[in-house]
Amino acid sequence: MTPPNTAPAANNLEAFFMPFTANRQFKKNPRMLARAKGVHYWTPEGRKIIDGTAGLWCVNAGHGREEIKAAIAKQLDEMDYAPSFQMGHPKAFELAARHAALLPGDLNHAFYCNSGSEAVDSALKIALAYHRANGQGTRTRFVGRERGYHGVGFGGISVGGMVNNRKWFGAMLPGVDHLPHTHLPENAFSKGEPEKGAHLADALEGIVGLHDASNIAAVIVEPCAGSTGFLPPPKGYLKRLREICDKHGILLIFDEVITGFGRLGTSFAAEKFGVIPDLMTVAKGISNATVPMGGVFVRKNVFDGLMNGPENAIDLFHGYTYSAHPLACAAASAVLDIYRDEELFARAAELSPYWEEGIHSLKGLPNVTDIRNLGMACGIDLAPEGPVGTRGYKAFAKAFELGLMVRQSGDAIAMSPPLVIEKAQIDEIVDITAKTIKEVA
Ligand SMILES: Cc1ncc(COP(=O)(O)O)c(C=O)c1O
Repeated sequence: MTPPNTAPAANNLEAFFMPFTANRQFKKNPRMLARAKGVHYWTPEGRKIIDGTAGLWCVNAGHGREEIKAAIAKQLDEMDYAPSFQMGHPKAFELAARHAALLPGDLNHAFYCNSGSEAVDSALKIALAYHRANGQGTRTRFVGRERGYHGVGFGGISVGGMVNNRKWFGAMLPGVDHLPHTHLPENAFSKGEPEKGAHLADALEGIVGLHDASNIAAVIVEPCAGSTGFLPPPKGYLKRLREICDKHGILLIFDEVITGFGRLGTSFAAEKFGVIPDLMTVAKGISNATVPMGGVFVRKNVFDGLMNGPENAIDLFHGYTYSAHPLACAAASAVLDIYRDEELFARAAELSPYWEEGIHSLKGLPNVTDIRNLGMACGIDLAPEGPVGTRGYKAFAKAFELGLMVRQSGDAIAMSPPLVIEKAQIDEIVDITAKTIKEVA
């Protein structure tokens, strides 16, 4: 019998079905990355690209960190894999204790998974199970928000608010309502949190009026919406949402997949805004993107509420083969050491005003209709040119050509560099962004 031909086909880009990509367009003119170190990528031809986005908002401590590499290699040597169902391994418990110590309030328990999407689905399920365990099994509805992104699981797209992520995929989860998004034209060019819009949280009262609180399990929002062009919350908005949730016994979930681990100059957005959610989802910066990992941090009362059954009964019928994978735990622990030793969250806070000034200097360039920033992230809206996303894509492609990686969302470009970035490199990012905007005018 002839063996199948498994030899690699040189320069054949056909087989890889690329995620969130215009496959045919990409394959005609590919943007390839071959190497990364610090705040830079290199293409296979050796062209240097400054990483304006920390990969996909995830490489907060910079690329190629030797400490993380060593921790993963050591763990691989010791034990490659161990299940976490009805048994455990020390690194998982150690990591959860370290996370609990870092988290604000009484977010004292960590459930681990492999991605932000899994974290969101896990959080939604924990919310349902908690209410049921506490005699409130009618609380099954969820409230998300327009322009929210919560990954790509069916739970995440149901509570998410991005039309292209939803319209292809049928009915999704039943029983979901959406709050209005918080992007108001009167807040254009705000620095940091915009002044107007706290009242938008009151829409939750309307949803409660429609369905009754006894049917609503949880509200999920990103404290700062990331994927729809970076939308910092209006002043007072998150506090108001917390108050309304408390009033009606609704759990509040913060999706901190982007805002977690230093992006806003604090450990988490919950710390920055002084609002503690009942559940918090994380991923990305948790492991500096070296080994896939996600997690749900759970407040004491929610965790305790799930511990009321018989001691020999499984508390939550949910988990993943790779929950608390030893390599991910080793990586995440090494990342925590870096965050602590290099004080990267404080560094992000210190750099934020410089970043803000640099990014807002782009105001006045052709087609720039809004600029938003908070911590070490920003969103820049460009006036559309034809179908939505045309100018945004051109800007993304042009920036890459000029040596800068940005994120595109429609006609907005977003940036979130690694927190180890230097001021001169911020200048370089601003400079290339300005050139890009002018070239796509
Ligand atoms: C806020 C938020 N939630 C969830 C996710 C999904 O994470 P993942 O792509 O790891 O599934 C993302 C990814 O960008 C995100 O930004």
